[in-house]
Amino acid sequence: MSRIPTLEDLPPLDGRRVLLRADFNVPLADGEITDDLRIRAALPTIQWLLAQGATVVACTHLGRPKGKVDDRYSVQPVRQRLAELAPGVDLLDNLRFDPGEEANDPAFVAQLVDGFDAYVNDAFGASHRAHASIVGPPQTLPSAAGRLLAHEVEVLGGMRTNPKRPFVAVLGGSKVSDKLAVIEALLGVADELLIGGGMCFTFLAAQGHPVGDSLLEADMVDVCRRLLAEHGDRIVLPSDITALGPGGALMKPGAGGDGAAGHVVSGGDGASGHVVSGGDVRQLGLNIPDGWKGVDIGPGSAADFGDRIAEARTVFWNGPMGVFEDPRFAAGTRAVADAVADTSAFTVVGGGDSAAALAAFGLDDRVDHLSTGGGASLELLEQGDLPGLEALRHAREG
Ligand code: 3PG
Ligand code: MG
Repeated sequence: MSRIPTLEDLPPLDGRRVLLRADFNVPLADGEITDDLRIRAALPTIQWLLAQGATVVACTHLGRPKGKVDDRYSVQPVRQRLAELAPGVDLLDNLRFDPGEEANDPAFVAQLVDGFDAYVNDAFGASHRAHASIVGPPQTLPSAAGRLLAHEVEVLGGMRTNPKRPFVAVLGGSKVSDKLAVIEALLGVADELLIGGGMCFTFLAAQGHPVGDSLLEADMVDVCRRLLAEHGDRIVLPSDITALGPGGALMKPGAGGDGAAGHVVSGGDGASGHVVSGGDVRQLGLNIPDGWKGVDIGPGSAADFGDRIAEARTVFWNGPMGVFEDPRFAAGTRAVADAVADTSAFTVVGGGDSAAALAAFGLDDRVDHLSTGGGASLELLEQGDLPGLEALRHAREG
């Protein structure tokens, strides 16, 4: 594989115009940015470019407007924040207002690069998408990876190929099917894979435990059974479960948009309305009766996962252990977050919901690397490469 060009590989930029693809797909609530990590993370690249004398025009997608102009996905809040953090840097309209972005339409690429002298990709979180703004510009412009993209690749790539051991990976989230490829990739490199979140019930079902009304992907039970047969010594499942009884309702997190990025679009579907309801909550073993729904790992499992994280030398965490947005079911995720914050291991947390959980607990500055990518960090772990990186490797020479 040829090398990915970095900023230093670009031709002289004094007086030149640089198109910067960033991932400013930030979570919004009522039109306000609730976490500006992805904007702040692009500043080292922006500052370097400005110091070279370049004019910087940034572009990003925001949410999934599906190729149509939609005011709910306006980048205006991002433009304002960017103007505060990096005065003088312009921001184009939401790339996904044009159907050519997701379709990787050459006409849209031509329109994007028009008038620019160089291209920089610092959009790690979107580099798993073969979209126009990610893979198109390197075909015609001298191009490079920005500081953020290069750092993410170094950290996640290093963890994949050369981790300090023991390497403990912790995966949560609701679906085995979404994470099957990353489960298999992590089983190829990690010493232990700790599984919580909704996906643990499909594994528990594969072991023959009744899971009651918990999340279950019936068509994935056989796959889980095979994974347990092949790697059972390294897969660590919960030993107890916190469950919600019949008639109980969850306090719902904001829905809408991409769950991983935690979008709550104002004026949308009442997404920010929280519902809190009663219902019995119990700590159960692994046999969950009908009518009961597992919603968090139990206290014994939380302690066990915490001990394993404490003894590790490398930890990767992606996905909450339970429905942490409901305070009754936050304990498992909280325990993992605390253990990740406290361990002396090198710690990497994938973006999306686990990053949101860390931020909610005020622990986001206690990890070695908080990735700005959700899907992208998982895909880089799975494949060792991303479409956006591949495009840069074949970029036009400056
Ligand atoms: C993300 O938030 O995961 C990235 O910005 C990519 O967004 P997407 O999943 O809508 O492509
Ligand atoms: Mg996503």
